[in-house]
Order: sequence, then C-alpha cells, then structure tokens
Amino acid sequence: MSHRSTLIGVGTYLPERIVSNTELAERVDTSDQWIRERTGIAQRHLAAPHETAAFMATAAARAALRHAEIDPGEVDAILLATSTPDQAFPATAVRVQAALGLTRGFAFDLSAACSGFIYALSVADSLIRTGQVRTVLVIGAEVFSRLLDWSDRATCVLFGDGAGAVVLRAGPADGRGILSTHLHSEGSTGDLLYVDGAIGRPETSGFLRMNGREIFRHAVAKLAGAVDEALAANGLGYDDVDWLVPHQANKRIIDAMGKKLGLPPERVVVTVDRHANTSAASIPLAFAEAVHDGRIGAGDLVLMEALGGGLTWGSALLRM
Ligand code: UT7
Repeated sequence: MSHRSTLIGVGTYLPERIVSNTELAERVDTSDQWIRERTGIAQRHLAAPHETAAFMATAAARAALRHAEIDPGEVDAILLATSTPDQAFPATAVRVQAALGLTRGFAFDLSAACSGFIYALSVADSLIRTGQVRTVLVIGAEVFSRLLDWSDRATCVLFGDGAGAVVLRAGPADGRGILSTHLHSEGSTGDLLYVDGAIGRPETSGFLRMNGREIFRHAVAKLAGAVDEALAANGLGYDDVDWLVPHQANKRIIDAMGKKLGLPPERVVVTVDRHANTSAASIPLAFAEAVHDGRIGAGDLVLMEALGGGLTWGSALLRM
C-alpha cells in the first residue's frame, strides 16, 4: 500500500529574552524605523547560554508530540535542520533523541541553511513513502545569534533564535498529507551568504557574511519559480492555495510572493515581525502558530517556500 506523510502535530520553542529594534540601536548605528521599513522586523528572541539548538529542539519536539497526542517511544526517526548545531558531532538530533528518552530508531542533522526545514521535510516524506519509517519528528532549530558579528549592522539586526517541530506519520493516500516537495541548490552562489569559519581554523571569524541585495534579488526570482513548480507538479493553480507559509527573512520578499499568488495578506502567515529570521526554524515556527490559533485547518492547501545560503531553495505543498 502506498503511503502519504500526514501531519499529526506541531510544536515550538522561543527563547525567553526578547530584544527590540530600539535596544539594538543602542549597540549599532541603526534605527527602529530603518529595520521596520527595510525588513518588517520589530523584535527578535535571543537565546541565553543554556538555550542551545538541542535544548530548543527538544522543547519544540516535546510540544509537537503532546499536540500529536503520541508517546515519544512511537518516533522512528528525528531529522533536525540546523546550521548552528551544539557540536560538530554527534548530531544535535541524537542529543534530542537522548533527551526525549528514545532508545530506538535513528536521528541525524541536515544542513541547508534557511531552506533546511523544507529539505528535512522532503527527506522525511521520502522515508515515509518508501515504508522505512512510520513516525518522524522534523525539526528546525537555530541559534544564529551565536554566528552574528554584533558590530555589523547589515546583518545583526536581521536574525533571531528559536525552534519549530512537526510530527509526520504514514497515512493512507486519501488526498491529505505532503503532496510534493521540490529542492534546488546552486553552489556557484555559495559566497553570497556564508559563515566565515570552520573547526580547526582559528584564523577565521566564525561570523555570518551576507550580500543582502544579491540574496534579495535571487530570492524573489527563485522562490517564484519554486512556487510555480510545486503547483504545476500537482496540477494546481494559484487559486487553490489556502495558505502561504514562507521562510521569514524579509517582509518585502514575503509580500512579493503573496502578491504573485494573488493571495490576500490575511492568507499569508507572517512571524518575521516578532521572530526576525530564524533560518531553518522560521517555517515550522510560523506554521505551528497558524495551526495552533486555528487559522490553518483540516482540508487546507498549504504552500511552503524558502531560500537560504548555498544557495539552497525549495518548496513543499501540504494538504491538511
Ligand atoms: O534567510 C536567508 C535569505 N536572506 C534574505 O533573504 C535576505 C535578503 N536581503 C534583504 O532582506 C535585504 O537586502 C536587507 C534587509 C539585508 C537589506 O535591505 P536593502 O534594502 O537591500 O538595503 P541595502 O543593503 O541596499 O542597504 C541600503 C542602505 C545602505 O546604505 P547606503 O550605502 O545606501 O548609504 C546600508 O549601509 O542601508 C544601510 N544599512 C543600514 N542602515 C541602518 C544597512 N543595514 C542597516 C541598518 N540600519 N541595520
């Protein structure tokens, strides 16, 4: 029997500390007005030392399992998208596995920068469709605050920390579940957004570097293509989309995608104002918020899209 990956739970974790634009303007030469107008960001959550990727991922995973009303012991695999793991290895995902008390199955990290959650969703969906697993935790968890050069106003105002998780389970092919995922990367553009650092290279800074203007240009073009690709693959049109849950990097990019799809603003899930850009965590954080508050419900068609360092980009279509 063929299986579809159905969504049975969502969960989130955000660090307790909230930092406003005005507070940042005390540290670097910026203003609340510039940040709001150019990005839509008003505040971000920043992690305390104990709020690592594993800590936040575990909290989000527990919340998602509670929401799914299943026992952690039912999880067959944990896929964790992150560019800010606690350690080079073991994978942050196995730390989560241990923290959840799981003694079977497997867990691994996946690195695709801001597209990480779409990539992890795609791999999880393949594992379910091929019958290798029944229940999967897919998590995006990031502490980008540890990668930022806090003297660089062009980047430090853009990012925040957090984690979001979903539980997928094999279900009947009855029209619900993940319809398709579409992944892309273009290594030749790797230097547009990267971290200047690696283990054993103390001469590097370890800071995030970004050509914002170029990334913006690529994002608008490549995400438009990814959205069209997802709909065409399923014989669907813009009118069929109930919700857009985009990566939350910049409100102007989000608005451009909503406009392209002809969606009214209230059908586009936006968290960038409160979370800033949480990289691989941004889509599950936004998605979970809209599921919990009842906006996204049974039968809705949800379109997700993201672009990030790599460049990597992709999309996913999900019928609730
Ligand atoms: O998640 C991964 C994908 N990332 C993205 O999708 C990010 C895509 N890029 C963007 O969102 C935007 O390009 C940014 C928000 C990063 C920048 O916005 P922009 O409208 O492209 O600004 P810009 O880089 O062209 O800079 C415009 C001006 C510059 O000053 P001059 O050269 O015109 O005098 C910057 O120095 O704004 C200045 N600027 C700032 N001013 C006040 C840059 N950062 C700041 C700041 N506060 N924080």
